[in-house]
Amino acid sequence: MAQIYAAAFPDMRPWSAAEIADLLCNPMIEAITGDDAFGLTQTIAGESELLTLAVHPGAQGKGTGRALLREWLGKNGVQVAFLEVAADNTAAIALYHSTGFAQEGLRPAYYPRKNAPPADAILMRRQLP
Ligand SMILES: CC(C)(COP(=O)(O)OP(=O)(O)OC[C@H]1O[C@@H](n2cnc3c(N)ncnc32)[C@H](O)[C@@H]1OP(=O)(O)O)[C@@H](O)C(=O)NCCC(=O)NCCS
Repeated sequence: MAQIYAAAFPDMRPWSAAEIADLLCNPMIEAITGDDAFGLTQTIAGESELLTLAVHPGAQGKGTGRALLREWLGKNGVQVAFLEVAADNTAAIALYHSTGFAQEGLRPAYYPRKNAPPADAILMRRQLP
């Protein structure tokens, strides 16, 4: 997962394998996995947050991200789903819009970037039936 994360987010601080293992010790945090891809979600009292979603660049554009998102949203007990995405991440924003998410807020200069000014974060939310 750490390798996929580093490849998928080259401009972000990498997450070490130990950090990811620590997160997965939390019983509220779940991993959803696919070929060369994973997502981490945290669900508390029916509210589920997508902590990250990463598809290795070599595997992108083949439906994997959409499939992982569908798996997350289909989990029992999830009533509200929410996430944050960088405002310049057009691919991810298109995916989230097409799966029923709508913008709910904006955090200015939220994501630090290695060689560029920080990017705004868009907060998105979807109510599930
Ligand atoms: C964003 C990401 C998770 C999408 O996963 P993916 O497997 O590549 O995407 P899919 O093949 O499932 O495509 C799903 C939708 O995403 C959008 N999308 C995917 N790649 C895109 C691109 N290059 N440009 C624009 N939209 C794109 C489209 O809406 C697409 O639907 P369509 O195929 O019906 O047009 C993946 O590209 C990724 O890991 N990117 C780097 C890390 C990242 O940005 N994670 C999300 C952080 S919030």
